[in-house]
Amino acid sequence: MINTNSRPSTRLLLLIAFSIFTLYGISTLISLRVEVHHPKLNPFRDVQKSQQPLSPQVTQPIRPSSTQEKLEDLQIIWSKRNPNGLFNTIDDSGLQPQFYNPTFLELPQSSAHQFMVFGRLRHEMIHIGEQRYRKSRVAVFFANLTKDGFGNPVMKNFEMWNETILDHLYEPAIKHTCERHDYIGPEDVKAWWTTSGAPMLMFTNIYPIGNIKECFSMYMVDARAVTPRLDEALGEYGTHLPPIEFDTPVRLHRAEPRSVEKNWAPFQAPFGPDAGDIFFNVELDGQRAYKFDRFDEYVRPVKTPPSSSPLDEAFYLSGAGEPEQPAEPKRATCLHNLVDKYGYWQIHQGTPVLSMTLCNRGECEPNIHNTVNFGIIQPKYVKPLNWYEPRIATWNITRPFEWRSISKRLTYHGTKSREYVYTMHMSYFFNTTSPPENRAHGFLDDEIWLGFGVADSRGAFMDVDARELMADHHYCDGATSDYRTTRTDF
Ligand SMILES: *[C@@H]1O[C@H](CO)[C@@H](O)[C@H](O)[C@H]1NC(C)=O
Ligand SMILES: *[C@@H]1O[C@H](CO)[C@@H](O)[C@H](O)[C@H]1NC(C)=O
Ligand SMILES: *[C@@H]1O[C@H](CO)[C@@H](O)[C@H](O)[C@H]1NC(C)=O
Ligand SMILES: *[C@@H]1O[C@H](CO)[C@@H](O)[C@H](O)[C@H]1NC(C)=O
Repeated sequence: MINTNSRPSTRLLLLIAFSIFTLYGISTLISLRVEVHHPKLNPFRDVQKSQQPLSPQVTQPIRPSSTQEKLEDLQIIWSKRNPNGLFNTIDDSGLQPQFYNPTFLELPQSSAHQFMVFGRLRHEMIHIGEQRYRKSRVAVFFANLTKDGFGNPVMKNFEMWNETILDHLYEPAIKHTCERHDYIGPEDVKAWWTTSGAPMLMFTNIYPIGNIKECFSMYMVDARAVTPRLDEALGEYGTHLPPIEFDTPVRLHRAEPRSVEKNWAPFQAPFGPDAGDIFFNVELDGQRAYKFDRFDEYVRPVKTPPSSSPLDEAFYLSGAGEPEQPAEPKRATCLHNLVDKYGYWQIHQGTPVLSMTLCNRGECEPNIHNTVNFGIIQPKYVKPLNWYEPRIATWNITRPFEWRSISKRLTYHGTKSREYVYTMHMSYFFNTTSPPENRAHGFLDDEIWLGFGVADSRGAFMDVDARELMADHHYCDGATSDYRTTRTDF
């Protein structure tokens, strides 16, 4: 407020200052809008170009020098169907306690419902004997896409049916002696289709007979095994799916587990030498991936690191070569070089990994060169408040699954500052009676739906052209010139 007691000259100065400030703000916004509306106008930027030559400096986080620089590394994601491009909501009909971090299976058009939606419920405090626990549950319901009174798409539970699944899992956990953690029950469920068409769920749960060192493990199970209503809804189409292979939750166990295993991202190669196998991206700092083997108690590392430190498998910035001094391992990766300057705390994986061939459907023959795996990764910030910044990361579909590129920071149009967004879900949206057998693979002109939680209190989704998610990436070292040129084609 301008103080009415100030002398006229002071008021004038304040007014001028205010106008300059406003005009500057508007012009920044305009330049930002131009950028996001026309990704093609943006020259593709190499990470390296925007930074100092690789030297010991790279091991020091470089703070973005200006807000402008931060904005240039930002991409706004708009909803295709929302009349204002805003993100869309999921109406769970008042499921209690609060439902968030949604993930879903798109059912073919012939089914009784359009989507089966899963997500977590807010923790409930329970007492068992002397002990107090925070209990987490996974809820499921059917939904159809509809519109609210303003024409905004809403994924809505019309049926007033819901259930919680995997409930039996929390009881054995009570015997657990896990230090510090009082969480029990399945959490952070992710739904995805295997490349051969099985609907799968992945989640975290306390490991009941573990020791202090092993508190939480990752599990996977066929979605049809945990809720018979899925098969019922799929009807005739369901008979064409592969038989259920994982009818009880399979623990995904590595030989040297961390005490809390969370946020693993499943991936599969659509074709090529690794097709058919299930892998998990576990650590991204240096990248550690594991392969699932039905006959082995453990998931096994995909590759043994060439050097002493497992975190040393760095993919250096484009053209920069090896640093003279061995870089601090955690800081030597493509990912680190890009995000370290923002001073993040941890990197959380969000979504399952899909694959995409970088041409329009039918316009090229997919091969290992023009096809990438991609998923959403989320650097987490804790200051000044909790915040996740989703980015698309792409990897080779052949071993050792090198990083190829990383997108700008994605921000979903309509989200607010202070309300953080956590992206759990990504899937192609096919909307046909007979979706392709491999629903985890698509093309630039396909459509992708993202599912995310807003402020740990509600579910939302975004419908977007696949092409948008591939536009304007920073390249990692080793990304071939072919890859760079294919990408500039769109
Ligand atoms: C939901 O969609 C399915 C499949 O299109 C349809 O059969 C069903 O009638 C719809 N339900 C409602 C309540 O609109
Ligand atoms: C969930 O189911 C319970 C009964 O089992 C019901 O009271 C509640 O209204 C349902 N909620 C939704 C969102 O359908
Ligand atoms: C990825 O695979 C391609 C083969 O298509 C290979 O030429 C390239 O060197 C690999 N690495 C990267 C980072 O692209
Ligand atoms: C799915 O396709 C049908 C036509 O087959 C169309 O009417 C409907 O709007 C589409 N749904 C969405 C969500 O785009």
